[in-house]
Amino acid sequence: MGKDLRDFLQQVKAAGPNFYAEVRKPLKPKLDPFILQQKLSKEGRNPVIYCPEIEGSKLPLVTGLLGSYELLGLAMDMDPKKVDKSEISKEFRRRAAGAQPVKVIPTSHAPVREVILKGKDVDLGLLPITQHHELDSGKYVAGGFLICKNPDTGIPNAGVYRHELKGKDQLGCGFAPAHNAGYIAGRYGALGKSMEVAIVIGHHPAVVLGCCVEGPVGMNELEVAGGLLGEPLEVVQAETVDLQVPAGAEIIIEGVIERPMDGPSTTDGPFGECTRYYGGVQRCYQMRVTALTMRRDAIYHDLVPAHAEHNLAGILAAETSIHDAVKKLVPSVKAVHVPMSGVTYHIYVSIKKRVQGEGKLAGIAALAGQSRTTMVVVVDEDVDVFDEADVMWAIATRVIADRDVSIISNVTGQRLNPSAHDETGLGEGGMVSKMIIDATKPVDLPFATRVTPNKELWQSMRLEDYLK
Ligand SMILES: Cc1cc2nc3c(=O)[nH]c(=O)nc-3n(C[C@H](O)[C@H](O)[C@H](O)COP(=O)(O)O)c2cc1C
Repeated sequence: MGKDLRDFLQQVKAAGPNFYAEVRKPLKPKLDPFILQQKLSKEGRNPVIYCPEIEGSKLPLVTGLLGSYELLGLAMDMDPKKVDKSEISKEFRRRAAGAQPVKVIPTSHAPVREVILKGKDVDLGLLPITQHHELDSGKYVAGGFLICKNPDTGIPNAGVYRHELKGKDQLGCGFAPAHNAGYIAGRYGALGKSMEVAIVIGHHPAVVLGCCVEGPVGMNELEVAGGLLGEPLEVVQAETVDLQVPAGAEIIIEGVIERPMDGPSTTDGPFGECTRYYGGVQRCYQMRVTALTMRRDAIYHDLVPAHAEHNLAGILAAETSIHDAVKKLVPSVKAVHVPMSGVTYHIYVSIKKRVQGEGKLAGIAALAGQSRTTMVVVVDEDVDVFDEADVMWAIATRVIADRDVSIISNVTGQRLNPSAHDETGLGEGGMVSKMIIDATKPVDLPFATRVTPNKELWQSMRLEDYLK
């Protein structure tokens, strides 16, 4: 079998207690796992957390799989004890570029088909679905990714979306209209067809990372997932819907959105969001579950929205797409970072500046690489974009505001941005201003020389030779 969640759990266990923690008491599905995760984070610890007992379910729960840069690196087989954010970002770019076609295997070989519940036997209450935050409207499946198929091309699409528990066999599907799943649901509606879907819960985290890549309609995230895994993703034909689903998953919820032609027919929210604010009530689709298939000893994967992990899951994909966009206009781009402090709204870009004005050009290109951005800071190559203090130093010492700061007003942002203004009053809009700070030095004027350590001494001096 191909790589799966269990392989990853073994890797984190082997990496030691900084990377894996096991809970020894039963937890309530409402809030408990997340308070635990947040308390650990407050102490600077972000391990994978394994919860063997969640009240009301026989299944264990695992969370925090993507809760730190170390774990993102480990998902791509990098050493978690040597974290270099720039190397992790590069490795993601390299692997994502090597998408691999899926490998179809016989259903009889698929662990996720050990248990099959259909019809009256479907009961989402079997799963330890949790309520993550106090003011959330209810329990949500948040760590799964949903597969559907573009009705025009037949190409699969996968992404992570929130799914509010709405009944024994009913789930919400909170596709943002701007995301491909939202577009695809609209196409099914226009064609007057129902939309088949499958939510996959519990797989190797590289697969989840692949499903967070925001590509064009037509990009097959399951193939990107193969690139990130370093091997083709093994799939089987689903039980009740015409979709291929990962054979090595822990749990699959198959179902159908019956009348997408009526548009999103229900609502979900409030919901604690990636911005660390509650998002309001939003319109969403509703799916009827047609089958629940799982391993005999399935592990439920959860992912806490509003925790750093929510943004970490998409950061490497965002850096890749922004890097590609900048490279088209500024081939001398050195690095791109989406810092966690900016909840994915901020971008830092470094370039080897060749001509005057190229800093701003890189900023414009970076804005094109990700729609939700509100601020881009462009720095010279001597500034480390992965070191926030270095970026702030460049702003402090290289920026003349009326020359180097550009603002574009009234652009569509992300509807979750609490500062976005929404003239429609429908909660569907979200206008922001976008700011470019060009913190690069002028190339055509003399500029002060940065104080840096002597290169030879820096390389040759070993602290242990000098210190007691
Ligand atoms: C934990 C988590 C929760 C997310 N929730 C949603 C959501 O509710 N709705 C949504 O449209 N995107 C959500 N996203 C972002 C999408 O997964 C991401 O943008 C994906 O690339 C969308 O794929 P698509 O454009 O193919 O639909 C979430 C991402 C993560 C990591």
